[in-house]
Amino acid sequence: MIDRRKFIQYAGAQALLTNIPAVATAMSAKLDTRLIPGTTEPMAIIGLGNSRAFLDNDIAVSTQLLEIFLEHGGTYVDVSGSSRTTVGKIVSDRNAQQQILLGNYLSGQDEGELRTEIAGLQRVQGDGPLDLAMLRSVDGLARRADEFRALKTDGLVRYVGIGRPHQRFYPGMMKLIENKVIDFIQVNYSMMEPEAADRILPMAMDNGIAVVINRPFINGNYFNIVKGHELPEWAAEFDCESWAQFSLKYIVAHPGVNCVLTETANPKHALDNLGAGVGRLPDDATRVRMRQHLLAIANKN
Ligand SMILES: NC(=O)c1ccc[n+]([C@@H]2O[C@H](COP(=O)([O-])OP(=O)(O)OC[C@H]3O[C@@H](n4cnc5c(N)ncnc54)[C@H](OP(=O)(O)O)[C@@H]3O)[C@@H](O)[C@H]2O)c1
Repeated sequence: MIDRRKFIQYAGAQALLTNIPAVATAMSAKLDTRLIPGTTEPMAIIGLGNSRAFLDNDIAVSTQLLEIFLEHGGTYVDVSGSSRTTVGKIVSDRNAQQQILLGNYLSGQDEGELRTEIAGLQRVQGDGPLDLAMLRSVDGLARRADEFRALKTDGLVRYVGIGRPHQRFYPGMMKLIENKVIDFIQVNYSMMEPEAADRILPMAMDNGIAVVINRPFINGNYFNIVKGHELPEWAAEFDCESWAQFSLKYIVAHPGVNCVLTETANPKHALDNLGAGVGRLPDDATRVRMRQHLLAIANKN
């Protein structure tokens, strides 16, 4: 665990250099990590979502976001479409392939297309296997399970996964776990969308499936809920200094979660979010209190 005093000390120094608020800077602090189940591969608990900056090929902002992320020991970046090239190139130009795990969404409609797509991505991301190949279609992955298993056997990808942002997809995703098609799931989970904790997260834990969480801020709506409200003083008890960290710490305190995605095109927000990946986490009783507190605010609004 990171020394909290050191974290704040570096944060202050960095703030002087960059004019970024101290709370949002911690250039020397490394994120806490958890192992990908069944491996010795550590994954930092805060990841990067598929940012608009990546999708729009905004090299300046994308580079800034990724440099901050690398500096903190970040691991997982979610990439689809043009982000796969934007991020892949920045990562490979910095020889950071060993540190970064790219969650690639693939779109090839049959085996031939899929393998051509992977070869194209390898040319940008590096010659080795893709880290993680994902589909967005749960039914599609169920139908094409053998095709995806063969990608692993043939050394073209290391892990296979499925990513969706709504509870209606959980039953199909659970079938994929049951049929041993996937190594990773990506699901929505937060104080406002807690349903994953009922069945799919425990099932993932029991089956050694890595879990990545999306929609930590319900696509930004969370900030509309908490706007104008003070962070409760007791948030300091688990080293939480902002509303963003309040949501992220709630999520990563679930023992089944490997990593939570944070989507932003704003480097200051990225630093704020990464601050959730160090220090203490809320215990079970505090998590209940956090959710009650947020729901009370939401009901008042
Ligand atoms: N597989 C799928 O089907 C699927 C579907 C949905 C999402 N996802 C993945 O999950 C990721 C995240 O989910 P999401 O798209 O719902 O986004 P989210 O992370 O819940 O919210 C993103 C929004 O929060 C704002 N934000 C981020 N950090 C902030 C901070 N510290 N302070 C204030 N505002 C902040 C961002 O604005 P700024 O840019 O201004 O910071 C943006 O508007 C996506 O990027 C994607 O990788 C996957």
